[in-house]
Amino acid sequence: MDALKGKTVAVVGGGSGIGEAIVRAVHAGGGRVVLSSRSRTRLEGVASSLNGATVLPVDMTEKASVQRWAAELPMIDHLVISASSAAHGAFAELEEDAVRAMFDAKFFGPYRMAKESLNKINDGGSITFFSGVLSRRPGMNCSGLGAVNGAVESLCYGLALELGPRIRVNCVSPGMIRSEAYAGLEEQAREDMYSATGASLPAGRVGEVEEAASAALYLMTNTYSTGVVLDVDGGHMIRQYATR
Ligand SMILES: NC(=O)c1ccc[n+]([C@@H]2O[C@H](COP(=O)([O-])OP(=O)(O)OC[C@H]3O[C@@H](n4cnc5c(N)ncnc54)[C@H](OP(=O)(O)O)[C@@H]3O)[C@@H](O)[C@H]2O)c1
Repeated sequence: MDALKGKTVAVVGGGSGIGEAIVRAVHAGGGRVVLSSRSRTRLEGVASSLNGATVLPVDMTEKASVQRWAAELPMIDHLVISASSAAHGAFAELEEDAVRAMFDAKFFGPYRMAKESLNKINDGGSITFFSGVLSRRPGMNCSGLGAVNGAVESLCYGLALELGPRIRVNCVSPGMIRSEAYAGLEEQAREDMYSATGASLPAGRVGEVEEAASAALYLMTNTYSTGVVLDVDGGHMIRQYATR
C-alpha cells in the first residue's frame, strides 16, 4: 500500500459501488483522490468523510464536459474509470439506440476520458478500465453488454502497446459484485439473483466491492503489469454452465 502514498488517483465512478471502494482504499493507503461522475451530491457525500478529496463532476458521454473536466484535473498518477451504464434485453427486441447509448457511456466514455487526460498523467502512471465477465462468458439477453466489454478489453490491449512505457494500461473484469449497479431491482429479486449466481460459481457466492477494488489497486501499483485484463469473478470463467 505504500506505493500509493503521496500519489494522486482520479476515479471516474468514485461516488458509488466499486469506484467508491477504490476511492476509500486509495485514501486509506495515503493517496490523494479526485472523485468524478455526474452527480456532485453523490460525490460530495463520499468525499465528506475523506480529508483532502477533490470532487470534479463529469458526464463521460459529453465531449465538452470531458474537456472541461480534463482542463480542471490536477496532475495525477493514476486514472481509474469504473463508471458505466448497461442495457439488457433480447437481441431481437432491444432497440439499437439503447445499445448505441451503452457504447457511448461504457466504451466511448472511458475512451474520451483516457484521451483527454493523457497530458495530465505523470510519467510512470497508469490507466485502469473496467469491462466485465460477459465479454468472454455470455449471458442470455446481454449480447450488447458482452460486446461493449470486449471493446473495452481490446482498447486496453491497444493502448498498453501505444502508451507504454510512459503509461501502463490495464482492465479489471468483474463478475457479479454486490453494488449500486443493481439498485434498480426490487430487494428480494436482487437477493435471489445474488444467491442463484453465487451458487453457480466455484466461489459459492457473489463478490463484494472491496474485492473488485483490490484488483484495481494491484494493477495501479504493480509496475510490471500492463495490457492485463484481470478477472475478479469468483471463478465465473470456469463455472459449470446451467442447462437452458
Ligand atoms: N457490479 C457488477 O456486478 C459488475 C459486473 C461486471 C462488470 N461491472 C463493471 O464494473 C464497473 C463498476 O460497476 P459498479 O458495480 O461499481 O457500478 P455502479 O455502482 O452502478 O457505478 C457506476 C458509476 O458510473 C457513474 N456514471 C454512469 N454514467 C456516467 C456518465 N455518463 N459519466 C460519468 N459517470 C457516470 C455513476 O455515477 P453518477 O450517476 O453520479 O454519474 C456511478 O457512480 C462498471 O464498468 C461495470 O460495468 C460490474
